[in-house]
Amino acid sequence: MSASSPPWTSQVPAHIGIIMDGNGRWAQKRKQLRTQGHLEGLKSAKRIVKAASDLGVRYLTLYVFSTENWKRTTEEVGFIMGLVKQYLRGELDFYRQNRIRIRHTGDPAGLPADIVKELHEAAEETRLFEGLQVILALNYGGRDEIIRAFRRLSGTGVSAGTVTEEALGQCLDNPDIPDPDLIIRSAGEYRISNFLLWEGAYSEYYFSDKLWPDWTGDDLAAAIADYQQRERRFGGLKNE
Ligand code: IPE
Ligand code: IPE
Ligand code: MG
Repeated sequence: MSASSPPWTSQVPAHIGIIMDGNGRWAQKRKQLRTQGHLEGLKSAKRIVKAASDLGVRYLTLYVFSTENWKRTTEEVGFIMGLVKQYLRGELDFYRQNRIRIRHTGDPAGLPADIVKELHEAAEETRLFEGLQVILALNYGGRDEIIRAFRRLSGTGVSAGTVTEEALGQCLDNPDIPDPDLIIRSAGEYRISNFLLWEGAYSEYYFSDKLWPDWTGDDLAAAIADYQQRERRFGGLKNE
């Protein structure tokens, strides 16, 4: 980068990851069922996908359901899976209009067969769209992804003693996608909850108290503006 060019972070982050948290609390505050919070959370996700697309973000990874979320009640898990199915199926026109490509990260092996089918179909239908890529992290855990990557790598015959960062990185779920520049978490928790552990090594983090169903495009724009004030050094020295 030449001395006269703007700092890298003045750009819109190419890849944003979001831990969409606070659906249950949003509902409880209103004396409603937690499932109602998930329904509102889905509306919020749609708003943010549109905003990210309009702002020129290239990749958006949404944490929809973690490998730990199976600990919740059967009713809540079933409701979330139903919403995912509805979202994948019902939004095809929207993806088409906005040239949005849908992808998945996480272990398909642990997901119900109908969800895997919907994910596969949405990915196929949108495969050639060159706009925003939305990566749904579903049955996703950062540790699980690393372990699955390691197993894939072992399958290539590479011996453990010669494993490199690059080789393991190439065995992650979507090796062509750049690491997230910015990771956002809503609802006032300051933890990562097993999200993008490998890819987030040098991400900038943004925490907001606002519950996920209350998020609008303005909140995304505020997170991006905050990111644009950051100085990314990647372990190097200040760029003066
Ligand atoms: C995030 O909202 C959605 C999922 C984890 C599926 P929560 O359901 O975790 O909401 P809170 O944290 O209980 O408020
Ligand atoms: C993280 O939120 C997972 C998703 C948003 C899908 P959780 O609500 O499951 O995380 P914890 O339990 O607060 O760490
Ligand atoms: Mg939560």
